[in-house]
Amino acid sequence: MDKILVVGATGQIGSELVLELRKIYGNENVIGSGRKTAPSKEVMESGPFEFFDAVNRQDLEEVCKKYEINTIINLAAILSANGEKNPMLAWDVNMNGLINVLEVAREMEMKRVLIPSSIAAFGPGTPLDCAPQETVLRPTTMYGVTKVAGELLGDYYVRKYGLDVRGLRYPGIISHETLPGGGTTDYAVAIYYEAIKNKKYNCFVREDTRLPMMYMPDCIKATIDLLQADFDKLKHHSDFNVGSMSFSVAELAESIKKHIPEFEITYEPDYRQEIADSWPNDVDDTAAREEWGWEPSYDLDAMTADMLKHIGIKHEKGLI
Ligand code: SER
Repeated sequence: MDKILVVGATGQIGSELVLELRKIYGNENVIGSGRKTAPSKEVMESGPFEFFDAVNRQDLEEVCKKYEINTIINLAAILSANGEKNPMLAWDVNMNGLINVLEVAREMEMKRVLIPSSIAAFGPGTPLDCAPQETVLRPTTMYGVTKVAGELLGDYYVRKYGLDVRGLRYPGIISHETLPGGGTTDYAVAIYYEAIKNKKYNCFVREDTRLPMMYMPDCIKATIDLLQADFDKLKHHSDFNVGSMSFSVAELAESIKKHIPEFEITYEPDYRQEIADSWPNDVDDTAAREEWGWEPSYDLDAMTADMLKHIGIKHEKGLI
């Protein structure tokens, strides 16, 4: 039986992934964890949840033993923008948390570890269009540095210890349940909330900024598909490119205007522009498609319709 620990279950992805995993593996078999932030009521009430910091190896080990965990998904991370404000914190959480996860999994002879990477692993020098699976990885953010190191470490544990480690390079993730925190791609979420609440948005990157993005249902699907993929079919392990959509901020605003014609967007680029400019426009995900059947479902307009519907409901209920 699979016993899965999701580290970082209060975050944007974790809060939704835990609920989906519980549907598949059973409520009691998916343990959520977080450092301090309280999880959503749904996560807290539908199954086990533990408060601890994965940077503290002993705490991680105790929880894994308590629940006889055999699979860890490590989503805890300090993202790109916050990482530039506090690079040492990003190093600590992203690297020490990760190495603890890998070491505990190795020592307990776990079945599987899933450690996400990110488009932040790319940098200047990576081809801008359709960034290949194998390419130049010279990121300029601390977040990116830790993600490249994480990919290399994951592959190292596969080769050296035969531990089953998998990972995928998430693009910017767009969702309406839990807000992202401290990423460069956060504008692509904030724009929908502001469109519903105020019919205008002041964007912190230029209108021609074009980045790889993905809607949450596809993100959950990619994560679970990779988690369940046949290990023998994988040639890559910790670094799969996963594509879905790619759009400029101007195109995103146009998509919103189809529903809210009076929506206005202004631009005031800040330090996050440089980060965005260091990442490619989109990615080549042939390896993910060939090795584990990756296929996204949403495009920009389908996502916009769904985002506006859900955020609209929250607004009507006075929740935002
Ligand atoms: N969403 C992330 C960030 O902006 C990229 O993976 O940092």
